Amino acid sequence: MNRILIGAQWGDEGKGKVIDILAAKSDIVVRYQGGPNAGHTIKVKGRKFVLHLIPSGVLYSKKICVIGNGVVIDPDALFEEVKMLAQGDIEVRNRLFISDQAHLIFPYHRLMDQLRENSLKKGKAIGTTKRGIGPCYADKMARVGIRICDLRSMSYLRQRLADVVKDRNAILTKVYKVQPISFEKTFAYCQKIRSRLLEFAIDTPKYLYESSKAGKNILFEGAQGTLLDVDHGTYPFVTSSNATVGGAITGSGIAPTFIDRIIGVVKAYTTRVGEGPFPSQFPSKLMEQIQKKGEEFGSTTGRPRRCGWFDAVIVRHAVRINGLDAMAIMKLDVLSGLKNLKIATAYRINGKITRDYPHAINEFSVAKPIYETMKGWNEDITGCKKWNDLPVNARKYLKRLETLTETPIKMVSVGSQRHQTIFL
Ligand code: IMP
Repeated sequence: MNRILIGAQWGDEGKGKVIDILAAKSDIVVRYQGGPNAGHTIKVKGRKFVLHLIPSGVLYSKKICVIGNGVVIDPDALFEEVKMLAQGDIEVRNRLFISDQAHLIFPYHRLMDQLRENSLKKGKAIGTTKRGIGPCYADKMARVGIRICDLRSMSYLRQRLADVVKDRNAILTKVYKVQPISFEKTFAYCQKIRSRLLEFAIDTPKYLYESSKAGKNILFEGAQGTLLDVDHGTYPFVTSSNATVGGAITGSGIAPTFIDRIIGVVKAYTTRVGEGPFPSQFPSKLMEQIQKKGEEFGSTTGRPRRCGWFDAVIVRHAVRINGLDAMAIMKLDVLSGLKNLKIATAYRINGKITRDYPHAINEFSVAKPIYETMKGWNEDITGCKKWNDLPVNARKYLKRLETLTETPIKMVSVGSQRHQTIFL
């Protein structure tokens, strides 16, 4: 069984926990897009792990982890994560493989991300994680990126890097008026990371093809979420990769005919970190309350996440784009204690009502949600083990989400631990 797991909102849906549960049933876990901008938090036996690049399956000692060609790799972040795992007695050697086609994030990518973000005025800045993600993907598309396989021949790398550094320096000095980067230092950095990185590098599409043919179960873990997808998200307030299902195919090199199930991870409410419109955002008092209760602070940057009501318009959009077979609803427990719950079912945009997500950001930014109100519940649900343990209003709320999104719910999370999960 090969499954793809997708975030159906703006990221931070709680994918880490679902991946962790599904990884137990998988032989191989694959990351296919994004980079160290992601942060998957997993709590196991009272210990908390935050993974940015390495697939969450690494916490199971026998699972193979693959980082696909669609992921942008920051070697410093990668080695730091390997070290963090080693400190927790988790060894990655011989079970972490990285595509030799994956592009590298260099310190100059991080620098350009910061300079660009800092130069943009309020309302225009994206609110990026400043991890160099956008500039690295921009280089990939402009065909000037450096891939892991380029590190095999230092003479080839020298030529390629010389052109890249010259080009970057023109922008750094002329546009941003900062010091140029040194070619020699950048080349020396490559020499330093080279052998450690090449130890992990393999032909991952071939490996995944052969593993799938041999009957292995593969889990493809998405990072970020549908509304942050560069094609299908709230452009330009998006990340620079395809966080939707197509990204799993191109970013890993697996053929679509090898995929059996596509699962969407959906928070029981909505959150967004970074800039950009958010129609169902809570008023400030409720936002503070949910931020605190839901521990809504970014795992990568520590920034508070903006919180709001469940938005069925964006989740329906995610259902369509990704062809979701099922949903996992996360953090339902955070909503306990609210007298009423609202669900955005449509938007009013410039006087017109629509049930569909509008592509133009100037339309989305003036969208006023049309809400449906449901009764909340007061009970603590963190100990619920099965559907019938849930208060009747919680069950009604979930049923309504299924109807509005036209997708069955197969998993409900009522707490951060592995065992606080209801399977349907
Ligand atoms: P970038 O990916 O760092 O370029 O940031 C672009 C946008 O995506 C910003 O709004 C970030 O806050 C958001 N973003 C990137 N990664 C994540 C994530 O893992 N979870 C939630 N938001 C993210």
